[in-house]
Amino acid sequence: MSKLLIKNIKQLLQVREETSGPVKGKDMDVLPCIENAWLAVEDGIIADYGSMDDFPGIADWSKLEIVEADGRLVLPTWVDSHTHIVYAGSREGEFTDRIKGLTYEEIAQKGGGILNSAKKLQNASEEELLASALERCNEIISQGTGAVEIKSGYGLTTEAELKMLRVIKRLKELTPLTIKATYLAAHAVPMEYKTQKDKYVDLIINETLPKVAEEKLAEFIDVFCEKNYFTPEETERVLEAGKKYGLVGKVHAEQMSNYGGVITGVKCGAISVDHLEYVEEKEIKALLSSQTIPTILPGAAFFVSLPNPPARQMIDAGLPVAIASDFNPGTSPSGNMNFMQSLSCVQYKMTPNECVNASTINSAYAMNVGDSLGSITIGKKANFFITKKMNNVDMIPYAFGSNPVESVYLNGKKVSVK
Ligand code: NIG
Ligand code: FE
Repeated sequence: MSKLLIKNIKQLLQVREETSGPVKGKDMDVLPCIENAWLAVEDGIIADYGSMDDFPGIADWSKLEIVEADGRLVLPTWVDSHTHIVYAGSREGEFTDRIKGLTYEEIAQKGGGILNSAKKLQNASEEELLASALERCNEIISQGTGAVEIKSGYGLTTEAELKMLRVIKRLKELTPLTIKATYLAAHAVPMEYKTQKDKYVDLIINETLPKVAEEKLAEFIDVFCEKNYFTPEETERVLEAGKKYGLVGKVHAEQMSNYGGVITGVKCGAISVDHLEYVEEKEIKALLSSQTIPTILPGAAFFVSLPNPPARQMIDAGLPVAIASDFNPGTSPSGNMNFMQSLSCVQYKMTPNECVNASTINSAYAMNVGDSLGSITIGKKANFFITKKMNNVDMIPYAFGSNPVESVYLNGKKVSVK
């Protein structure tokens, strides 16, 4: 049995006796914390915690690995519930074009955007994709992420979609991250299907999906519900087809316009609806009578200069909000969840406490790992990070651009992240 004790923790944050769902509304500004704490881990699982003032006597110190936190904070690792980190190449040319005045849509219409990444990915080998994705996994671990959802959607052919999902499966085996995979063939319409989109939706549902299910390559199914991409009706068709194979729905919704993705997601029982820049009152109302978790992706809104999603209004209305990075080569070439906190505080007026809840417990439920991750709770996986020396948790969004993370423990083991 391996035993680990973290001592003299200045603040042990996000400590919850039990969790049964995302934290909502006013509760999002409450971040339970033990000052001057200890944390015990056994065989990769959180075994106990408490205050140093009531530190229990330990019979046999020799079998115990002891880490002196000495004034540092401990938080559960970030849960990044929306990424596209398996991709080939990069799209800095489009970035420069946008600076010069082209819009994301204009670039996409010219064959750039998702189709640009699809062309690159179709020509890349599984090994190449794996190597670059592993680098990104190591990068996000060093920034405090311990669990990540990864989507397909740069394949857009049966073969290339399966290739992406197989890479994700190998990442699950090769990294200490907790990973969930999402089938997102409904990410863009390939050029050859532009005038016959129905045929592409048929292919997604009738040809590729059964293979994805047979190889058990995905837990979720997702659709980019947007003008020039997939309509609410097509979104519903894809999500309902996924359900038949046990895949849980997610939707890229209301990113570029108010188009119906949220309402469709709620109707189909999606676990989350993500982006939400164009959410209005009617979407907030629909979300309030659902279990669907609204997820904001501040990196994408920032990088493509989209309007702010109404995070404040959603929380004030009593909703839970999750934060994820959307790490992808087009709209968010960063998976840095610390920077996502800064963006959410400054741009959306979320408090640092709300951001931590949004990026741990709420994002954990948004990727269906809330029972085992997202808080310091006895019985959950020992996934946590120790910060550099700092006053309090507000320092994380405050010191934007610097890495607050000193060391990362996943499944109770320190991960080498250099
Ligand atoms: O989440 N919105 C659609 N999909 C991605 C963008 C993908 C890309 O541009 O490559 C997103 O922002
Ligand atoms: Fe996305």
